[in-house]
Amino acid sequence: TYTIAEPCIDVKDKACVEECPVDCIYEGDRMLYIHPEECIDCGACEPVCPVEAIFYEDDVPDEWAQFTPINAEFFADSVTGLGSPGGAATVGAVDKDHPTVAGWDA
Ligand code: F3S
Ligand code: F3S
Repeated sequence: TYTIAEPCIDVKDKACVEECPVDCIYEGDRMLYIHPEECIDCGACEPVCPVEAIFYEDDVPDEWAQFTPINAEFFADSVTGLGSPGGAATVGAVDKDHPTVAGWDA
């Protein structure tokens, strides 16, 4: 899967959303999150992010390693309970973030 890391926080450019063929990039309050099971690893989102926030999971810089689980946990019952909706357009923007992101001192 691909992962969105720290540079997206409070930026939310959303160029990535337009590129994703399976609509698996979901909007939280401070950043966007890629659904790890819905992502088909096409790579289309990565080059369009103006702040280079998107990485293939094996290429996430060590300083942002925690963002791989953060993207996955955004969908868990403990955070949003979204599960696997199969598309971000129907969900829309969610007024929540992973707790680590909510408290991030950007
Ligand atoms: Fe964030 Fe970059 Fe997408 S800033 S919303 S990951 S284009
Ligand atoms: Fe979507 Fe492809 Fe990125 S499936 S999240 S545009 S890698």
